Amino acid sequence: MKTVSVTASRNYNILIDSGLLPQLGAQVAALGNIQTVALVSETNVYPLYGKQVEDSLRRAGLNVVSFVFPAGESSKNAHVYLELVNFLAKNRLTRTDALVALGGGVVGDLTGFAAATYLRGIRFVQVPTTLLAAVDSSVGGKTAIDLEVGKNLVGAFWQPSLVLCDTDTLDTLPREIFLDGCAEVIKYAILYDGDFFHYLASTGPGFDKAYVIERCVTMKRDVVARDEFDTGERRLLNLGHTVGHGVEAKSNFTLSHGKSVAIGTAIIARSAVNYQLLSQECAIKIENLLREFCLPVRTQDSAKELASFALSDKKRTGDTVSLVVPRAIGRCEILTTPVEELENFIQAGL
Ligand code: NAD
Ligand code: GLY
Repeated sequence: MKTVSVTASRNYNILIDSGLLPQLGAQVAALGNIQTVALVSETNVYPLYGKQVEDSLRRAGLNVVSFVFPAGESSKNAHVYLELVNFLAKNRLTRTDALVALGGGVVGDLTGFAAATYLRGIRFVQVPTTLLAAVDSSVGGKTAIDLEVGKNLVGAFWQPSLVLCDTDTLDTLPREIFLDGCAEVIKYAILYDGDFFHYLASTGPGFDKAYVIERCVTMKRDVVARDEFDTGERRLLNLGHTVGHGVEAKSNFTLSHGKSVAIGTAIIARSAVNYQLLSQECAIKIENLLREFCLPVRTQDSAKELASFALSDKKRTGDTVSLVVPRAIGRCEILTTPVEELENFIQAGL
């Protein structure tokens, strides 16, 4: 088993291995002083792994109540959030009890926000079952729900008490959803690690999952330790996301998050070449790696449309927007760009 330790406002371990789910109960009980666990999951994941998780928790002597909501981003809203916290109250969970989030980023974000706010905060455990959740959303304590106006507009920083990642759960992921998560894996390589980038280029999507998850969460762990509350360096993790958000929103969310981020990353890389911030050779390598993972690198959307959607994103601050720009494979920087320059910057990369 691989263990990555996170140091933040709450310290915790990330455990990564195949066959870990049966150990979940013992690991949760070891957090101490827990009587009841509320298992939170959704309608695709619960039928696959819910019973195994409940059995493991009960074997460890824990009382288990389960809350299962309809799968999908459309459930990450205030209505389901209120149903969940009411469920916790009706089942009399106390401050020393805990929630377990079994699922992808939707389950993790919603459960984390409920944990951050129920009784002004109780512990929660992340059990990520998508690649995106394993390498990104389960670590670092960003929790949120969506509003009609936009995604993730209500939330809190609330670190989990444990992340347990059983890599076997990724075997049931539809291929498209697995490849979506690969866009975030590639993001870490471009941000921090040229050797890791070349490893991914050599394996393609057939990479060693435990190794890749460990590398990604170690990179995320390091940045979270330096900037837990996202005021500085952590914003680098938005590589590809500002323009990607524009592509995703313009498609009315019919294009997946991973594909949108891939297009956003490729656009920024090509712009960086035109602004003489990145070599052509590096931009070509980035595009080729995205293509190797069957991810798109072009869009038909205009720079004007993309800039307008990107500016409604929460990454805007006053009259500027922070763009994450690659300077080399394994090194990026934040470019504070005036709002009126964004369209030109995007145009340069279309
Ligand atoms: P998701 O949770 O909707 O999962 C994607 C799909 O995979 C769903 O249909 C789900 O039912 C299915 N699924 C999940 N695990 C499965 C399994 N093991 N086998 C079969 N099917 C499975 O989406 P996601 O891509 O995991 O996460 C996206 C969410 O994460 C968004 O809401 C995004 O805002 C959030 N996010 C949060 C952070 C953060 O730091 N908190 C970071 C990135 C993304
Ligand atoms: N996924 C971006 C972050 O955690 O900051």
